[in-house]
Amino acid sequence: MMKHCLSGLELSSADTLQLLALAQAQKAHPENYQHTLACKSVVTLFEKPSLRTRLSFDIGLQKLGGHAVYLNEQGQGIGVRESVADYARNLSCWADAIVARVMSHNTLEELAQHASVPVVNSLCDRFHPCQALADFLTLQEQYGKLKGLKLVYLGDGNNVSHSLMLTAATVGTDCTIICPEGYEPDLALVEQAQALAKVSEATIVVTDDIAAVAGADALYTDTWVSMGDDKPLNEVRDIFHSYQINAQLVEHSGATSVLHCQPAHRGYEITSEVMDGPLSRCFQQAENRLYAQNALLTLLLNPTAAVLPESMEKAS
Ligand code: CP
Ligand code: NVA
Repeated sequence: MMKHCLSGLELSSADTLQLLALAQAQKAHPENYQHTLACKSVVTLFEKPSLRTRLSFDIGLQKLGGHAVYLNEQGQGIGVRESVADYARNLSCWADAIVARVMSHNTLEELAQHASVPVVNSLCDRFHPCQALADFLTLQEQYGKLKGLKLVYLGDGNNVSHSLMLTAATVGTDCTIICPEGYEPDLALVEQAQALAKVSEATIVVTDDIAAVAGADALYTDTWVSMGDDKPLNEVRDIFHSYQINAQLVEHSGATSVLHCQPAHRGYEITSEVMDGPLSRCFQQAENRLYAQNALLTLLLNPTAAVLPESMEKAS
């Protein structure tokens, strides 16, 4: 049984499909889940800014009868006033779970090591598993399946690309990551994804060749400069400009949906024409953050409520 969700790799293929099916059930029938997390208190702590994550956890918990307590640590971060270990031990005295957005993945590992309650990664330097779960929920809704789809990510080989690639490999979606040379995803994680993909019979490809967009079902992009890196976007514009998702690239790819985790930098990694166009699923992804996270918290905090009637177990 999964205790924490730090990288997303804690979720097997079966767990991920169960979570997505539960998210769909909770989205379709919220009235059946109003008390699923009754009396549960979840601390949501942030060392970095957020709109979607903060709000979707807070409002999502209210929908399940629980509540979120926001802890703003965007000043000096945790581990300065007291150790991360003591921080985890104290939060565990009052909270039923800790959701943490941190600068370094090591902080999450340390929190999990010393907390007696589940720890959930809501973005770190290496992963963004809650985002990937919402994205695969969006793809499941759009295509009715995940196996055999081709998802193409363009841009920086960052935390979001890592979580997409790993989740794709887990559930059997073909995933191509197209990045400029020097901005590739972490090689060890690519190899881990390729090993998972052998089992799920998917393919994981990393290339700098834009022509690899051909045959995509879904295109995905994210900022060219992530939080924690204070480089101005204009400094990398020349390196990334040909990786922009614009109308011409979408048409050339043949894709039928376009995703972006947001915040978007319109005119940089994506044009407004595409983001506001008919193929955009960007706001559906934002909406699905709430449902994917609610399903994850249900699995962690009230697993018996996560079991669906057989007739509803349908995520592919
Ligand atoms: N996609 C995402 O995590 O958005 P926020 O940074 O606004 O939480
Ligand atoms: N890669 C981005 C994702 C923001 C949701 C970042 O880490 O800033």
